[in-house]
Amino acid sequence: MFLAVLAALPAVQQAPAQTAPPANPPPPEFRAGLGDLMTMWVQPRHIKLGLAGQAGNWSYAAYELHEMQEAFQKVARYVPQWRSMPVAEMLPALTKVPLAAMERAIQAQDAARFAAAYEQLTEGCNQCHQAADRGMIVIRGPTGNPFPDQDFRPRAP
Ligand code: HEC
Repeated sequence: MFLAVLAALPAVQQAPAQTAPPANPPPPEFRAGLGDLMTMWVQPRHIKLGLAGQAGNWSYAAYELHEMQEAFQKVARYVPQWRSMPVAEMLPALTKVPLAAMERAIQAQDAARFAAAYEQLTEGCNQCHQAADRGMIVIRGPTGNPFPDQDFRPRAP
C-alpha cells in the first residue's frame, strides 16, 4: 500500500550536486567523575537497599545488595584513584564487612541485624567522605521513598 502511494508521487526532483557538509567532529570521550558515579550508581542502590530492609522485602534486598556490590566494583574499576585516594582499595576496605553482615542478615530475614549492618555500611560511606575531605557529604538511611513508581513491599504470596 505504501509502495502504491509512493509510486503515485511525482518523481522527486534530483537535488543539485552539493558539496559535502563538513563532518561533525567526534564527540569527546565520555568521562563520568567519581561524584557522578556516586550519584548514578551508589546512592540509588543505597536508598533502595534501605527501603527493602525497612519493608522486610528479603528477596528484593538480596537482589539489591548484589547490585550495590556491583556498583562498588564498577566504581573501583572506573575510578581506581581519586586525587591521592586509592579508591580501589578504600572501597572494599570500608564496605566488605558490612556487606557480608547484611548478606547474612538477609538470609536469616533478621530485620534488626540488617538495620545494624546497614548503619555500618552508611558509616563506611561517611568515613570515606571524611577521609576524602568531603565531609560535607553526609549519608544516612532513607526517610522517604523517592521512587514513587516502585513498590518496595514484599509481593503478596
Ligand atoms: C572509597 C571512598 C568512598 C566510599 C566508600 C563512598 N564514597 Fe561517596 N564519594 C566519595 C568521594 C571522594 C566523593 C566526592 C567526589 C567528587 O567530589 O568528585 C563522593 C561523593 C558522593 C556523592 C555525591 C554528593 C553530591 O551531593 O553530589 C554521593 C551521593 C555519595 N558519595 C554517596 C555515597 C554513598 C551512599 C556511599 C556508601 C554506600 C558512598 N558514597 C561511599 C568517596 C566515597
